[in-house]
Amino acid sequence: MKNTLADKFDALHKKQAEAQLGGGEARIEAQHKKGKLTARERIQLLLDEGSFEEIGQFVMHRCKDFGLDKEYYLGDGVITGYGTVNGRLVYVFSQDFTVFGGSLSESYAEKICKIMDLAMKNGAPVIGLNDSGGARIQEGVVSLAGYADIFYRNTLASGVVPQISAIMGPCAGGAVYSPAITDFILMVEQTSYMFVTGPNVVKTVTHEEVTSEELGGASTHSSKSGVTHFACANELACIQHIKQLLSYMPQNCEDEPPMFPYTPADESRPQLDKLIPDNPNQPYDMREVIEAVIDENSFLEVHQNYAENIVVGFARLAGRSIGIVGNQPAVLAGVLDINASVKAARFVRFCDSFNIPLLVFEDVPGFLPGTDQEWRGIITNGAKLLYAFCEATVPRVTVITRKAYGGAYDVMNSKHIGADMNYAWPSAEIAVMGAKGAAEIIFKKEIQEAADPAAKLQEKIDEYTEKFATPYRAAHRGFIDEVIMPSQTRQKLIRAFQMLENKAVALPKKKHGNIPL
Ligand code: HXC
Repeated sequence: MKNTLADKFDALHKKQAEAQLGGGEARIEAQHKKGKLTARERIQLLLDEGSFEEIGQFVMHRCKDFGLDKEYYLGDGVITGYGTVNGRLVYVFSQDFTVFGGSLSESYAEKICKIMDLAMKNGAPVIGLNDSGGARIQEGVVSLAGYADIFYRNTLASGVVPQISAIMGPCAGGAVYSPAITDFILMVEQTSYMFVTGPNVVKTVTHEEVTSEELGGASTHSSKSGVTHFACANELACIQHIKQLLSYMPQNCEDEPPMFPYTPADESRPQLDKLIPDNPNQPYDMREVIEAVIDENSFLEVHQNYAENIVVGFARLAGRSIGIVGNQPAVLAGVLDINASVKAARFVRFCDSFNIPLLVFEDVPGFLPGTDQEWRGIITNGAKLLYAFCEATVPRVTVITRKAYGGAYDVMNSKHIGADMNYAWPSAEIAVMGAKGAAEIIFKKEIQEAADPAAKLQEKIDEYTEKFATPYRAAHRGFIDEVIMPSQTRQKLIRAFQMLENKAVALPKKKHGNIPL
């Protein structure tokens, strides 16, 4: 008898085996030769062993044009499904470059939309592993429509479930806008690139000669544009980064970030009492403060090579996830400029969306002066950071280590804009501006008329310093809750975040705010 049950089972197994091969052995080999893994290998590395459940393995494209009615691959260029990372549910799509260069067709887009819809309904992160030649050229507008369906879902999912994009090959044209809407972008050095228009178009339009790597490689986007949050040495490192990143996040906006085990110990950090130089203009590295305060080896810096005058990243404090924003006195004296403001604002908003408390270390001489900054909109861009902090309802704590000058004092998570606890070290200088600038303005006449103007200036600087370049005026007013020894910082912060654990505040009812974009 033909077509027995055994034959039917056999047919299924054959189809499953065929789907495993994507575009076939030769193309898999070509992928490996480029130093890249296949879409399935990437999923295997990302998810807990044996946890992957594929959805839509037999989906095929529906295009009949340009010979595509004779070329079908089961799964059609993207592998989608769900599984777990460290035991926690995630949804994943992995673009398969071996099938039509990973290009996006109508049914391919539907597969991605399906898992995004499931992720939204079930409240779990979406991870996209991107490696694609863009729109399936043979399909025309239906492919563009597929992209738009994804962009729409990316936007609806924003702030509901975490979305992470890894770029592990080409990502060009309008295709870049899906990752751009997601929360974090990781790129692999040398084998990935992102650009709106490639080197050929650039040459035609602007006459610039540039390689793909220079135009949109991982190092470009991690240092020059800030498009990517992480540049990873290879695919394995990229996948490890995704797993680490997930470990700080809740599953969705109504969930809390996972707690890690913590055993109370001696929390004093005497090295911090020696960190701040006597000369207030001498730099130090804010990362040293961060590392001393947080749980050992728990810091994951975000945007490490971009706008280095501000440091942002995830860490754990007594096992609890926190987002850290710190001015970096070691770079441009920790001044706030456009890039630093936008970098920190985006990070603050991510943390607030996903219930991750915020810790700010402040040493900031103000906003960066100059025509370049003014003409490019330091006003609008600086306001993004101000707005992001004002709007954040998660527990918020600030430690002023040294300078807190001018508008930057207000912006950097001051009590006035909703921070819960503000601490200052004895080295804090909370003032409208630096003592020299202040003395030169308010004692201008007295200095000019003095027999020895330089000596008079110094006298006035000293006077201003003594009166204002301290934390005490602010502490007298209650703007600072406590002036603490640097060595006590970890202990104070652990208690403050424990105390704030059940914080509940609501913003005024509105459709949505209008952040100064
Ligand atoms: C259909 C495609 C394709 C595409 C690649 N392929 N891109 N098929 N649509 N967009 C196929 C190739 O025909 C080839 O098929 C296989 O994928 C591998 O491609 P190669 O060119 O051999 O690989 P490589 O040399 O590594 O170059 C990769 C590439 C190049 C740089 C991505 O293929 C390329 O430039 N592709 C076109 C990119 C593009 O212009 N896309 C449309 C952009 S517009 P075989 O059968 O030989 O294996 C866009 C708009 C999105 O994306 C809008 C959203 C709003």
